[in-house]
This record gives sequence, C-alpha cells and structure tokens, in this order.
Amino acid sequence: MRDSRETFVNHAFVTGFPVKHSRSPLIHGYWLKQLGIAGSYRAHEVSPEDFPDFMRRLKSGAAGFCGGNVTIPHKEAAFRLSDRPDKLSAELGAANTLWVEGGEICATNTDGQGFVANLDERAKGWDRISTAVVLGAGGASRAVIQAVRDRGIKAIHVVNRTPARAQELADRFGAAVHAHPLGALSEVMAGAGLFINTTSLGMDGEPAPDIDFSMMAKEAVVTDIVYVPLKTPLLRQAEEQGFAIVDGLGMLLHQAVPGFEKWFGRRPVVDDTLRQIIIRDMDSHK
Ligand code: ATR
Repeated sequence: MRDSRETFVNHAFVTGFPVKHSRSPLIHGYWLKQLGIAGSYRAHEVSPEDFPDFMRRLKSGAAGFCGGNVTIPHKEAAFRLSDRPDKLSAELGAANTLWVEGGEICATNTDGQGFVANLDERAKGWDRISTAVVLGAGGASRAVIQAVRDRGIKAIHVVNRTPARAQELADRFGAAVHAHPLGALSEVMAGAGLFINTTSLGMDGEPAPDIDFSMMAKEAVVTDIVYVPLKTPLLRQAEEQGFAIVDGLGMLLHQAVPGFEKWFGRRPVVDDTLRQIIIRDMDSHK
C-alpha cells in the first residue's frame, strides 16, 4: 500500500553522444540543491542507434525519467520521435527539451529563449534595434534567428561561408531573414545594432579572422554563442573597438530554465553563483 506521505521524486536526464562534456548536470544539480527538491538530473549517454528505443522507454515510463534534455546528435531525432512537438521545435526541426505528459512525449526547443534571456539580462534594451547580423548558418544559428525574429527585429542578415545554407534559413524563417556570402559582411554590418557569432571560429583557442565592427551602430551589442573561452577572440576585438559585448555562457544557463520548471515544478533563477560554478568547471578543464 502506498504511504500517504510518499512524495514522487522526479528524475531527469541529459542525453547526447558523447555526453560527458555536458555541464547541464552541474546547472540542474545546483538548482535542485538550492530549492531543496528531492529530484535528480544526470547525464545518460545514448548512441544514435539506441535513441529510438530510449524514446520508447521514456514514453512508457520504463526509463524512469519524467523528461530531460537532448543534445548533439539527437536534437533532430528527438523532434521527429516526439508525440507533441511545439511550434518552436517544429519550425526548427529540432528539440532540446522533452517531458512526458499523459503518456506522450512533449518537445520544445529552449535554445532561442536562452539566447534572448541572456541578452535581456546583460544588454537591456538590446531589442530597440532594426537590424541584426548573424554570422553562421549551422544548427546553432537556427534557434538564434528564430528568437531574434520573434522579438520583432525587422531585418536579420545571415552571413555564411556556404551561401546556400544561409539561403535555406532565409527560406525557412521568412521575409525578415536575408542570406549573404561572407564577402558581404562589412556591407550588412553598416548601421546594424546586433552582431551574433554562431560559428565555431575562435573556439577553444582556434584562430579567428579580424573583424572591423566600426561601421556598426555606436550602441551596438556583439555577442557570441561560443562560451569556451568566455571572451572569444571576436568578443575581444569588439570590446577593443569600443562595443558592448555579451558572452555565450548565459545562453547555456538560461536555456535550462524552462526544462527545470517542467520537470521539477519550480522556476529557477540564473544567479552569479551558478555562473561562477560553471566558470570554475571550465577553468578546471583548461
Ligand atoms: P553548429 O550546429 O554548431 O552550428 P555546424 O552546423 O557545423 O555547427 O555549423 C558551423 C557554422 O560555422 C557554419 O555556418 C559554418 O559555415 P559553413 O556552413 O560554410 O560550413 C561555420 N564555419 C565553420 N568553420 C568556418 C570557417 N573556418 N570559416 C567560416 N565559417 C565557418
């Protein structure tokens, strides 16, 4: 017989392949402890061939999880195999957050919300602009473009080494989004109020090209979704040229908020202690 005092303890996961590099367990572990919630959140590695079976076990309850996060390379499969993907994930064709409701797997994508929440926190008023420039047209750039468009930014210029990939995103995200080759970068940056790097250029100490930000609007914000290193070569250049910069770590922290709320029933707050925990972890892996 069930003890009337028994409380349900929710268990959540992050899955990827590999997944051991994920910092999500640190983030959710911090919030669980801070809020005194007796749940768990752990990394659970699943190979691409085993992922459909994992989704079946999630749905039936056999996996023992109420939901979780999905990272590379499972984001597209998570969307496809979910029962109730929301509008955001459907437009992206990729999901990063899953939860089980009424025996069905629900899916969303919180990367874009994380991106704008980071700007809202660190560059208040950033959205009083009419033009944004997005460098890169890979998987990571999609959620960013969607979120910036949904905030009402009128013109979003996507600049990419392979112009066809940028065009694909312009076709997907509608009239506000325009595709350009790399050669057009300076031209589209003129007067723009936001510059977003979504490429891996300058990641992990790799060299990055020199970019002249000087033709952007005086109060423009430059941000990078890469957060290792925290101050990427691109952000350093922008700062030296007198522009406000926002690093990518906050996007990682803020994208985690909606999932935690779904699984554990409380909306957590991104605070500086959490940010410092992740920075310390990054430093320890240098
Ligand atoms: P992610 O899912 O992390 O965005 P991706 O899909 O491999 O990764 O996309 C990486 C992005 O960085 C792409 O826009 C890529 O340009 P291409 O579409 O032309 O490949 C861009 N990128 C990577 N290395 C680059 C380089 N050396 N110069 C310019 N762009 C680069």
